[in-house]
Amino acid sequence: MAESGATLSNLSHEDRTFPPSEEFAAQANATAEWYDRADADREAFWAEQADRLTWSKKWDSVLEWDAPFAKWFVGGQLNVAYNCVDRHVEDGHGDQVAFHWEGEPGDTRTITYADLQREVCRTANALTELGVGKGDRVAIQLPMIPEAAFAMLACARLGALHSVVFGGFSPSALRSRIEDAEAKLLITSDGQYRRGKPAPMKENTDQAVADTPTIEHVLVVKRTETDVPWTEGRDVWWHDIVDRQPDTHEYESFDSEHPLYILYTSGTTGKPKGILHTSGGYLTQAAYTHHVVFDHKPGESVYWCTADIGWVTGHSYIVYGPLANRATSVMYEGTPNTPHEGRHWEIVQKYGVTIYYTAPTLIRTFMKWGKEIPEKYDLSSLRVLGSVGEPINPEAWIWYRENVGRNNCPIVDTWWQTETGAIMISPLPGVTAAKPGSAMRPLPGISAEVVTEEAEPVGPGGGGYLVLDKPWPAMLRGIWGDEERYRETYWSRFAKQGYYFAGDGAKYDDDGAIWLLGRVDDVMNVSGHRISTTEVESALVSHPTVAEAAVVGASDPTTGQGIVAFVILRGGVAQDEAKGADAIKALRDHVSKEIGPIAKPRQIMVVEELPKTRSGKIMRRLLRDVAENREVGDVTTLADSSVMDLISAGLQEGKGDD
Ligand code: WTA
Repeated sequence: MAESGATLSNLSHEDRTFPPSEEFAAQANATAEWYDRADADREAFWAEQADRLTWSKKWDSVLEWDAPFAKWFVGGQLNVAYNCVDRHVEDGHGDQVAFHWEGEPGDTRTITYADLQREVCRTANALTELGVGKGDRVAIQLPMIPEAAFAMLACARLGALHSVVFGGFSPSALRSRIEDAEAKLLITSDGQYRRGKPAPMKENTDQAVADTPTIEHVLVVKRTETDVPWTEGRDVWWHDIVDRQPDTHEYESFDSEHPLYILYTSGTTGKPKGILHTSGGYLTQAAYTHHVVFDHKPGESVYWCTADIGWVTGHSYIVYGPLANRATSVMYEGTPNTPHEGRHWEIVQKYGVTIYYTAPTLIRTFMKWGKEIPEKYDLSSLRVLGSVGEPINPEAWIWYRENVGRNNCPIVDTWWQTETGAIMISPLPGVTAAKPGSAMRPLPGISAEVVTEEAEPVGPGGGGYLVLDKPWPAMLRGIWGDEERYRETYWSRFAKQGYYFAGDGAKYDDDGAIWLLGRVDDVMNVSGHRISTTEVESALVSHPTVAEAAVVGASDPTTGQGIVAFVILRGGVAQDEAKGADAIKALRDHVSKEIGPIAKPRQIMVVEELPKTRSGKIMRRLLRDVAENREVGDVTTLADSSVMDLISAGLQEGKGDD
């Protein structure tokens, strides 16, 4: 298990609870009775949630479960974009703000639901002109600008699948995703703002599509007014084609199981997995969870999810869930300290944000910057605070509650994954007496268990593997083009029981609350971003000086985990030079270039040998001990037990190199 014993014992001593105020509980969207109702008849419960959407044809049955393949709301038809946009305008809410968009340099745009409808229709018309239709794949790499949401919704409107790639991913990461999905169109921008300065975007995306035969066009949004290389016939400016389109578009309804999008995420091999989501079930759970977990009130709440649109949190909780619920959202383009460390609180104050949803890594960064910063702003509009992406440590939870929530806001620690599509385990803010650091229990309608290797429930106080033992509406429907990997990754470990294996360790406390303990596989979690150790290892060995590499996630006070790499150099490489600070920097930059800056190792150690079992498997557990400055654990299964001494000695010597 990835977690150290020290963390485990910290967790088990946490017995503070924070129930909602009576006032909050009295007005909450969901009550305790929801758990009973869902338990009594799960399918009826989900049908009730699906009824919050507008269907052009009602489903025949709620669920068809042919493990591991689920179909939800079978026979039903809907258009996801219609549900997120048009129906609110038809209901008379065209003037309600959908997005208060805040650009990093301070420029702003206010987009009402009527504006959004026009923009999505224009974009859908433009995509049609570019040859995009039902079932086609569209790659999107864009900064956090409204066009990203327009593009996603336009795809949804046409029944085309979007594959959004985080702006921080490298050209080769983008290319492999385009190739895997055989995308026809890429939507990107000329540049992007990063820490107050324009940085290139199209130059990178051009590299990605230099050799991708499936890409027919590149649609380019002008954001930074940067000069860009241009390929006639292939490249099209957004403003040239979108702006001249009619602002109405007749939508078609699609089957509930029609694919909505692919989103790539790291697995335990070097090749990212294209997680496939479909329409009716996904939108049902995204909208339901957004409604109950954040206690969202349409037309009243001002909601801000700080995630990037390139991650699943951006998909489900910036675009689909909130828009289906007619939310007024803040969308912010930039980094939290541009131009100053109070930027987020300034935005909360400016728009009167009532719901704020962010990641523990950012909360810990705010802690580092000091409580004097949020103190300077009026944060009294806040009502609910959320956390996602990694376990939140009790200290950060309490800091968040005191300094952001001013002891007056329930905190919802939401556990879920790209694969689950929507929140699975979380407090209900008007019901749950939350404990700092615990995601508490599965939401009404959701079922999870913590089990041993042998699939036995661990019971109160026990720890083991988190599994999902019943299908849920927003579950992934597969890995794009790789059914075998889908079965193998998620369904083989507990095949007999038919449990979905989430890859996370978890434990119950004595009251039955769930505490997430981090990944149990070779996936790291750096600032809430999933990165596989194998991916970073392959990037390292693709460098001409590296023969072999082993990568571990070591705990890090700010980012949750930091990437620590151990590399063996190739014969013939001048060892002293290759161990020097410049060479190490070159290796770190190489990984950043190959995968993206998020995957840049915190530390790289040049070693002579790696600890391996007799069957040749690298023992990452031991390397993690070294990287976390712990006494090295049991080495008896090593082929050569002296290896660890050599590595530890080398590490002491190499400190400060980086
Ligand atoms: C981790 C992000 C503890 C977990 C939505 C999971 C969490 C992985 C939490 C999914 C949480 C996410 N507490 N751990 N509240 N939320 N995780 O696919 O390890 O980017 O498996 O989805 O993040 O990351 P992903």
